[in-house]
Amino acid sequence: MKVGIPKEIKNNESRVGITPAGVFELVRNNHTVYVQTGAGDGSGFSNSDYQQVGAIVLDTIGQVYAMSDMIVKVKEPIKEEYSLVQRGQVVFAYFHFASSEVLAEAMIDRKAICIAYETVEDEDGTLPLLTPMSEVAGRMAIQQGAKYLEKPEKGRGVLLGGVPGVAPGRVLVLGAGVVGIQAAKMAAGLGAHVTILDVNMKRLRYVNDVMPSHVVTEFSNEFNIRKHIKDHDLIVGGVLLRGAKAPKIITRDMLKDMRPGTVIVDVAVDQGGCVETTRPTTHENPVYIIDDVVHYCVTNMPGAVPYTSTMALTNVTLPYVLKLANLGWEEACQKDASLEKGLNIVKGKVIRKEILEAFKWQAMDD
Ligand SMILES: NC(=O)c1ccc[n+]([C@@H]2O[C@H](COP(=O)([O-])OP(=O)(O)OC[C@H]3O[C@@H](n4cnc5c(N)ncnc54)[C@H](O)[C@@H]3O)[C@@H](O)[C@H]2O)c1
Repeated sequence: MKVGIPKEIKNNESRVGITPAGVFELVRNNHTVYVQTGAGDGSGFSNSDYQQVGAIVLDTIGQVYAMSDMIVKVKEPIKEEYSLVQRGQVVFAYFHFASSEVLAEAMIDRKAICIAYETVEDEDGTLPLLTPMSEVAGRMAIQQGAKYLEKPEKGRGVLLGGVPGVAPGRVLVLGAGVVGIQAAKMAAGLGAHVTILDVNMKRLRYVNDVMPSHVVTEFSNEFNIRKHIKDHDLIVGGVLLRGAKAPKIITRDMLKDMRPGTVIVDVAVDQGGCVETTRPTTHENPVYIIDDVVHYCVTNMPGAVPYTSTMALTNVTLPYVLKLANLGWEEACQKDASLEKGLNIVKGKVIRKEILEAFKWQAMDD
């Protein structure tokens, strides 16, 4: 199969769809790999790193799309790329369709086979291709939150770890999934007081078992959220309803109950966010302020640490990329139930009901 690796063109996105180690495996399996020139620069991989393992470096993104049976990339195609996607081409990437009607319409129109990393699901319900990026984003949420709590950044001026004689900062984590647990772990490591909320008691039991005693679990409901937003300095949104839009569990009216300079890092922004006032931001302009509350809502947080993120991503995507390349998408999805769950839009047909529900679309006939 001909596999294409375009350079990411989303704002400040320096990750790349595959590392030279991944190309090595594909070439060893007799596949042709086209890499756009400079695609790996941001992650520390040069054209010659790719060439040395057998990739063919192409000059333009147009050539990569036109010559490949399958595109492997990180983020969803953006507007400039829509027209490059070929009929019947497999595109394996993060799509997050439920949060963009324009993207879903464009991919239906292009009649591509869109396999979304974020909905590939293992038997036990875990999302193997979302996990490493959630780990990165969860950990980064505390780094970013700590920065924006500083006064020059319009935060409350609170040092998360406190100092001897001064109480530490308070971090409220919404969702005890991968993002939530990694955020809680980092915040706890800094010495902050952490409250973590979820609706899943199994997750709360697990957190309670493994975290130190200054990480406190509570059930997620409106009463508890209203209680905690009043005295927490940093709020991390890590709520997910699989393949669907995130529920708005912090509403607009709740902002007035927060103290000025409170920081919200809504990691769930890529699924619409779990805060009503969330709107997507970029690494260039990561924050905005509403009612004196700082909102950080960058949709591709791991893009800021591409060295770590690209390697973490290829570690988990490569087995699927190889399967798709070796067997073709139909057989690969037939043989692998986890991969089959990644099928979102196939040759113009929406496969996942969450996309139909998000935009109130009718199911399509075969
Ligand atoms: N912005 C970024 O750069 C970035 C990067 C990685 C992941 N994400 C996003 O972060 C979000 C979380 O990902 P994850 O891997 O941690 O998901 P996950 O499935 O591991 O965890 C989500 C948790 O939310 C909980 N939840 C559901 N409804 C809730 C509610 N009402 N109150 C509290 N908790 C609730 C679930 O029970 C689950 O434990 C996703 O939307 C993901 O796409 C964003």
